Amino acid sequence: MKTILTNAMRLSGNNEKIPCEILIIDDEIVKIAEKIEEKSANIIDCEQQLVVPGFVDVHVHLREPGGEAKETIETGTSSAARGGYTTVCAMPNTRPTPDSVEVLEKINHLIEKNAVIRVLPYASITQRLLGDTLTDMPKLKESGAFAFTDDGVGVQSADMMLQAMQKASDINMPIVAHCEENTLIHGGVMHEGKVSKELGLPGIPNICESVQIARDVLLAEATGCHYHVCHVSTKESVRVIRDAKKAGIKVTAEVTPHHLLLDETAITEDDANLKMNPPLRSQQDKDALIEGLLDGTIDFIATDHAPHTEEEKAQGMKVAPFGIVGFETAFSLLHTHFVKKEIFTLQQLIDWMTIKPAKVFNLPYGKLEEGQKADLTVLNLDSEHKINKQEFVSLGKNTPFDNQLVIGKPIKTIYNGTLVYEGEK
Ligand code: DOR
Ligand code: ZN
Repeated sequence: MKTILTNAMRLSGNNEKIPCEILIIDDEIVKIAEKIEEKSANIIDCEQQLVVPGFVDVHVHLREPGGEAKETIETGTSSAARGGYTTVCAMPNTRPTPDSVEVLEKINHLIEKNAVIRVLPYASITQRLLGDTLTDMPKLKESGAFAFTDDGVGVQSADMMLQAMQKASDINMPIVAHCEENTLIHGGVMHEGKVSKELGLPGIPNICESVQIARDVLLAEATGCHYHVCHVSTKESVRVIRDAKKAGIKVTAEVTPHHLLLDETAITEDDANLKMNPPLRSQQDKDALIEGLLDGTIDFIATDHAPHTEEEKAQGMKVAPFGIVGFETAFSLLHTHFVKKEIFTLQQLIDWMTIKPAKVFNLPYGKLEEGQKADLTVLNLDSEHKINKQEFVSLGKNTPFDNQLVIGKPIKTIYNGTLVYEGEK
């Protein structure tokens, strides 16, 4: 099948927008030119809007199997498509956990049946994420595991992490780590700092995350493993990662939109839509994350899209589960608060949502070039609208950003040459 994207704009290397048309045959970008003369093709009129590579998110929770009241592969990927994403990597804290070939194959089957964009599933590092028995990594790799992670919990034993990294390194697979030292959580439900004291809520200190990252970068050095840190939230973590990179250790890291946008002072009342793990930290931490992203210490942005039901989130800060949804607000919020304010260039933001995560994980996506997969997102950079959680395709409405005025949004998403989302301009 032939498709042409007409009347499009694309980013040139120096942040300028230049007109272009794109010929897609089946699932491949075949030609990019100012004008394409081609008869009998399916036309997608881009109405002078910007075409960028489809977004890549390596940290998402799709909940299926086992958590279908929160999200399914179908609703989660449709939500991702509405957010401009064409590739997402699904975390293994489902029920059951993909800790065996049998479960991973079942998940692959569900993805094949229900996903509207590409889903690459993680397998777990340890059985049932319990931290005491390693999974069969070579077999899971053969069955299509994207990488290994126990996201949702930290791997507590240094020896278990050492063994995991040795095994992963032998088969050239990354270890992706949610870093949290259980003896330092102290029953916390938010960042330990001035706001937790004011609200009388138990706090999670910065060291809960950073000590585990410090341990792990040394294990990565000892094993040569590619070690990727999930959702970095503290200034100490940024420093440890920066130093590890300087020492030549194979460490990479991601940050979420919410940790870049908000700090603890956003929590003014008992609202669990501001409860996530790691928690919103201090303003100094937030500033260090932005600096880390700008200087390359942090490699890219990932949402940690974590849907929960309204009933669960209505239980308040102390009881509700950790996590917020991210797909349908990520681009608009980051564009509004960082690109429009000239803290990031548009090219930087797009790179952190496309080519950077793809490169870190050796994925052949995230590029707008001839010969690449036809995964494309069309952005209206001028649309002003209010975020309305009732319009989310995700079953999760757990966002702290409802009603916020934003500028810019994805208006079309093309995955493998097929239009999978089209919204109002
Ligand atoms: O906020 C979070 N939610 N952090 C995690 O690590 C897990 C996630 C979830 O699964 O809900
Ligand atoms: Zn996590």
